[in-house]
Amino acid sequence: MADTANLEIGDQKYSLDVITGTEQEQAVDISRLRKESKLITFDDGYGNTGSCESSVTFIDGDKGILRYRGYDIAELAEKSTFLESAYLLLYGNLPSNAALQEFRKRVSEYCELPPEVLKAINAMPKSAHPMAVLASGLQALGGAYPEFSTNDREKDLEAFDQVAALIISTVRTIAAAHHRNSQDKELPQPDTSKSYCGNFLSMMFSEDDGTDEIPEPVQNALDQIFLLHADHEQNCSTSTCRMIASGGANPFASLAGGVSALWGPLHGGANMAVIKMLNEIHESGDDGSNFIESAKQGKSRLMGFGHRVYRNYDPRAKILKNASDQALEALGVSSPILDIARRLEEVALEDSYFIQRKLYPNVDFYSGIILQALGFPTNMFTVLFAIGRTPGWLSHWKEIAENGKKIHRPRQIYQGETLRPYLSLEER
Ligand code: ACO
Repeated sequence: MADTANLEIGDQKYSLDVITGTEQEQAVDISRLRKESKLITFDDGYGNTGSCESSVTFIDGDKGILRYRGYDIAELAEKSTFLESAYLLLYGNLPSNAALQEFRKRVSEYCELPPEVLKAINAMPKSAHPMAVLASGLQALGGAYPEFSTNDREKDLEAFDQVAALIISTVRTIAAAHHRNSQDKELPQPDTSKSYCGNFLSMMFSEDDGTDEIPEPVQNALDQIFLLHADHEQNCSTSTCRMIASGGANPFASLAGGVSALWGPLHGGANMAVIKMLNEIHESGDDGSNFIESAKQGKSRLMGFGHRVYRNYDPRAKILKNASDQALEALGVSSPILDIARRLEEVALEDSYFIQRKLYPNVDFYSGIILQALGFPTNMFTVLFAIGRTPGWLSHWKEIAENGKKIHRPRQIYQGETLRPYLSLEER
């Protein structure tokens, strides 16, 4: 393709550079257009706008490709772990054995929350949504480490290794602390001899009688869920993080914004919607068949099916389907809701309505089912997504902090009132 694009507006001609990425993706660079023509481009919702150049994650939705730093997601899910992939996202390369051990050690050393942060979490209403607690907890954590949250880019970058380990470690402690508090239970001491997920699961669920042995396939399934959610290039929450970081804010503040953005039901909430749908189908006495028919008639949506970007299949869903089968077997779980999920999946994958529209299960279909089987309360599902996405957000913060030159500042087309005279109270 040509390396310039020509734009004609009236009798004016503008020559615009075409940028090509390493995967041959192309974009017309309009960054000088306003200066030269006084025109801006309009793209409500940014569906057609590249907001940055990034080297963290590549997605080709049509081909079902997702790669972290050039590594295929299926290979990472099979051979890597959440923490190793987190390192890859943060630093650009897979770690050596020594680097991985050091990273793991750093993450596990930071697992405990400073007492004042734990106090702040426990002071929140027990009914507070876990995402509200996570966003506040991250800001409180930044407050507890003023030397790590200076808003001085150079200093914040110098502290990045510690900050990344601290945040990746404590997002799970914040989530577990609030869960325990909401049940009037003490948060157990973290057990740093356990794996990242093993420690998290025992902070969440261990009982005083020591019944906290979580089967390995279950720990692995959670580890895979985190790994598969670790980054997804530009999206509502990641772009929010980058936007906040572009103003020079520290990682704690930037990630607290990302958490808030993820909370919305159109973004991080779909895995909860799957369980809600399955419960409703069960309560109505349907085995799933009626629901499929109503989805085909456009009266309802099969939650956990379809994706805005992936049009062939969601590569993460394929992987999680296997993990979910293994975890459910290890847990010995069977429930009418899981039977309905399996039936929905079977029927939809063979139905021409879903085939023609390229509607396949997405990552949320299976992650919701696994998380439910693991015993996580439904209102924690989005927080679990946030724990997984934390390394991605941090990597994008780092990319902006290292390379970003300008504060992000989109433009708008104003459609409000034009200049009006101010009338006094008597005149109105
Ligand atoms: N169930 C039934 N029909 C569907 C579904 C679905 N889940 N998704 C799309 N369709 C149908 C639409 O009704 C439409 O049919 P039509 O052509 O006869 O009008 C056709 O498929 C195209 O649908 P669009 O809405 O144009 O697809 P879009 O790409 O805009 O939507 C989305 C993608 C939002 C994910 C959609 O498939 C959906 O709502 N899925 C359910 C919610 C969900 O699982 N979201 C999580 C996504 S993954 C993630 O965010 C991590």
